[in-house]
Amino acid sequence: MNLYFLMTFLFLSVAGLTALDAALTSWTIIPWVNGLRWLRVHFITLGALTELLFGLLPLLAARRASLPKPRTRLDIWLLLNAGLLLLLAGIPIVNQVLIFAGGTLIFSATLLLGHQLYQLRPANRAPLSLPSRFYITGLGFFLVGIIVGTGLWLGWSEALAIKTPIEVHIHANNWGLMSLVFAGLLIEIYPKVTKRPFHWPNSPQKIYWMMSFGALGLVFGPWFNSLYLTVPGLLLHIGATGWLLLNIIKPVWGDRAQWAKPGLWHLITAYFWFLAPVMIAPLIILKVPGFPGAGIEQNAPQALIYGWVLQFGFAIIPYFARRQFQPQAEVALGGSWLSLIAVHLGGIALWVSIFVENGGVWHGLAYGLWTMAIVPIALELWRILHPVLVDDAMETAVSPTD
Ligand code: HEM
Repeated sequence: MNLYFLMTFLFLSVAGLTALDAALTSWTIIPWVNGLRWLRVHFITLGALTELLFGLLPLLAARRASLPKPRTRLDIWLLLNAGLLLLLAGIPIVNQVLIFAGGTLIFSATLLLGHQLYQLRPANRAPLSLPSRFYITGLGFFLVGIIVGTGLWLGWSEALAIKTPIEVHIHANNWGLMSLVFAGLLIEIYPKVTKRPFHWPNSPQKIYWMMSFGALGLVFGPWFNSLYLTVPGLLLHIGATGWLLLNIIKPVWGDRAQWAKPGLWHLITAYFWFLAPVMIAPLIILKVPGFPGAGIEQNAPQALIYGWVLQFGFAIIPYFARRQFQPQAEVALGGSWLSLIAVHLGGIALWVSIFVENGGVWHGLAYGLWTMAIVPIALELWRILHPVLVDDAMETAVSPTD
């Protein structure tokens, strides 16, 4: 049993519970459970998605290099999960020792994972494959995101002369880590899922460079408060993402069978929520009168995480879990129509809550819809994992040492 998948299920479930909690507190049904904001976002980003990536990337790298399946590295697993536990305890109560320890452990786990991926190359020391380059560069941005995130409460931002640290943190993790890793995953799974190549098969190499330099600009722009870095970074990153999306939309455009299942819809429409803050950004920068810039800055990150990161996860988490535990099953992305509708309506409700007076009802509705969206995915994942857990338990019960 690959323990990371079990942790992914665990964190997906608590992400559902904390979304429900956000709905109930917004509707003042249970107002006393407020203040779980950090946990909500990070149960998804650090919890469900990072666990999945740590479990998955070595398997993908080994398969691509025709190497034997690597065993789960328990040192990395322990570092990541111990770090996560310390942060989950330390950040909500702002305990500096716990935050420092948690950040350091996750940083170490990420370094070790990067090293493992680098080693998982064909025996003749061939250069890294393109997907691995996406993954390792993404992990490099994660290291920056961890340092800045850990240092938010430890005074490191002043020491590092970071002008807007929270933005640097969010950009390194979203435009860096997640964007690059998701792009690598799309390159790997798209031909398997759709039985078609990318529309421009030679473009991923260029997309890699555009996205990496774009993310660099988007990290160092807010770091030095320089639009000369942010704007070119944004243009490069958006250009790369648009090119990536066209690559996967064009080949299946007229193919009704591909669109008859929710998985591809999840994968592609998730990027709407990725692009939404970008479309709004100029209005905030120009401080257009009557435009609630502060409300957007406070709420937009959550729409990004639920609408894009989590929704991308809806498609890939069950997909990879099935590939891992039911290799004979049909190759199919995860997701459900209910999740698809609920996750998008949730994003719309969240944005409405920013613009209306007394937006609490809409805010609660957004989280209620996101809870509804998570439930079918958690159940789908449980149906895949449950037989494996039962088998493992049976094997242990009748092991030859008894
Ligand atoms: C060791 C890893 C990480 C640490 C130590 C960390 C720490 C933090 C801290 C201290 C905040 C500020 C909370 C506040 O202002 O109340 C924050 C916010 C945030 N982080 Fe992280 N984080 C980590 C990983 C990630 C990852 C992997 C992602 C995304 C892919 C992410 C996305 C965000 C977002 C979107 C916010 C803003 C949340 C909001 O405004 O509601 N973080 N993080």
